Amino acid sequence: MDDQVTQHEHDVVIIGAGGAGLRAAIEASSAGARVAMICKSMLGKAHTVMAEGGAAAALANKDPRDSWQTHFRDTMKGGKYLGDWRMAQIHAEQAPDRIRELEQWGAVFDRTPKGLTSQRNFGGHTYPRLAHIGDATGLELIRTLQQKGVHMGMDVFMEYTVRRIFKTDGSVSGCFAYDRNDGSLHVFKAKTIVLATGGITRCWEVCSGSWEYSGEGHALAYWIGAEMGDMEFVQFHPTGMIWPPSVKGILVTEGVRGEGGKLQNKNGDRFMFNYVPEMYADEFADTIEEAEAWVSEVVSGKLATNRRPPELLTRDVVAKAINSERDAGRASEHGGAYLDISWRDPEEVKKKLPGMYHQFKELAAVDITKERMEVGPTAHYVMGGVKVDPFTQETTVPGLYAAGEVATGLHGANRLGGNSLSDLIVFGKIAGENAAMRSKDMAEFAEIDQAEIDEVVAETLEPLQRSGGENPAKVVSDLREMMQNKAGIIRNGDLLKEALSDLEDLEQRALSTSPGGGRVYNPGWHQALEIGAMIDVSKMCALAALRREESRGAHTRDDFPETDHDFWGKRNSVITLESDGSMKIDFASYPPIPKELKSLLDSDDLQEEE
Ligand code: FUM
Repeated sequence: MDDQVTQHEHDVVIIGAGGAGLRAAIEASSAGARVAMICKSMLGKAHTVMAEGGAAAALANKDPRDSWQTHFRDTMKGGKYLGDWRMAQIHAEQAPDRIRELEQWGAVFDRTPKGLTSQRNFGGHTYPRLAHIGDATGLELIRTLQQKGVHMGMDVFMEYTVRRIFKTDGSVSGCFAYDRNDGSLHVFKAKTIVLATGGITRCWEVCSGSWEYSGEGHALAYWIGAEMGDMEFVQFHPTGMIWPPSVKGILVTEGVRGEGGKLQNKNGDRFMFNYVPEMYADEFADTIEEAEAWVSEVVSGKLATNRRPPELLTRDVVAKAINSERDAGRASEHGGAYLDISWRDPEEVKKKLPGMYHQFKELAAVDITKERMEVGPTAHYVMGGVKVDPFTQETTVPGLYAAGEVATGLHGANRLGGNSLSDLIVFGKIAGENAAMRSKDMAEFAEIDQAEIDEVVAETLEPLQRSGGENPAKVVSDLREMMQNKAGIIRNGDLLKEALSDLEDLEQRALSTSPGGGRVYNPGWHQALEIGAMIDVSKMCALAALRREESRGAHTRDDFPETDHDFWGKRNSVITLESDGSMKIDFASYPPIPKELKSLLDSDDLQEEE
């Protein structure tokens, strides 16, 4: 095979085929744009399916008191007031329409007895708010969007990895990709590009994401000069499988806790009550039996209350509590905690959590209607990403849009469960609409500099010329282990400095790996190419985590355990690539929140923030 490059031309190129990419594609196609969708994997195989328990939207079907205003408040509070209030408002206002639209397109949501879309409890949401399809909500969302999307005539390029975005005269003009199957090389000319590549959690050893999640979308934006925000905030979902080792990290949906799952330590104590005693003190007398009886009433819907069971505190709190139980010597047999749903009617468990029932039966030989599950934290989501205009989703690079997990802003320091699926459909639509609009204003495709194409072609093929070096898989696995140990749930300055220095070493090692073999399906070559992105996104995370000398949401420093409510007057980290190739970090804030929206927030929290 030679260096021949196939050329393509599309008004809008969408990189990534999860919920955000598909929703953007539908919108751009319906605006008349010629759309290409580039997927790293097969169409339909996206991390979106890992949001199992539901999509958050204030439909108020289960509790009429719910409203966009309460959803807005919960999102800002859950994100520890670091999020962009403009995105939180747009999201809370538009999510219900996006869910109703999915239903019109054929999504089969679970129903209430009255035939309305059913909604379940999730951490940090004041009311039952997650529209769901059993415990396979993300999967049904993808199925629905895919079915709608493919009928709109977009061109789909499966198993392509994008390696570079091009700019001409300061604006996006296309991208370069190679086909993972046959190693062929492709340039896509584009008037606009939407990045919808999801997250970066494969940079940690224990994660819920599959192999695609190596952070290329984040890296592509950074390399082309986009501003990256809040990269220190990585969410560890409290409940991943931990046993047997081959399945470590696979998600156990928060829906289990939403349906009444109790977390217990090795002594059988329901330890979450101990982490927030003040929250429950006035609702019961002080026995655990009374607390449990109250929780059962809430879960069965007999008791309307704004307070949720302690297992449904936000993910940062629950993940850290499981960690603390382990550190105190009270872990489950394999180092995590027990999660028990077996107290509920077995038929209800199978109906509401069919995926979890089969997952544990088949992968761990555990019948969850009779036995407890064993769970522990797993890297699940990055709140940080490419900075976007909240109204258009355009990044700081003209013509480059971003939506979903690759973009930052909505979730602040900690995302509420269920807010990712609604994020994808709300902001995917906005990105697609605006990308199509801008492309319409452009008569011609811009020329891409041939020297840049030649450079990225050479870079892409170069690992195949090497011999005698390490296996790229070893460098990737060392990086993941290092990030788990030095930039995980609990961090400190010394470990983060070590992480940054280790990343320099890993970068050097990566330059001389030898994948061996040729261009036709060669996973070693793919890994040798992926490492560059993994190293840069890991550096962004470690650098921002080192500079944030406080604990807030998903970022916990044991050397700075308090939240600094006056964080240098500027609160969001911003990372950019300097012209000399170095990584620069600074801090900035979103515009001040207007009075009428501020009045919706929790006044107790605000006093601390001011
Ligand atoms: O636990 C879950 O089902 C995950 C949902 C989410 O991350 O939004």
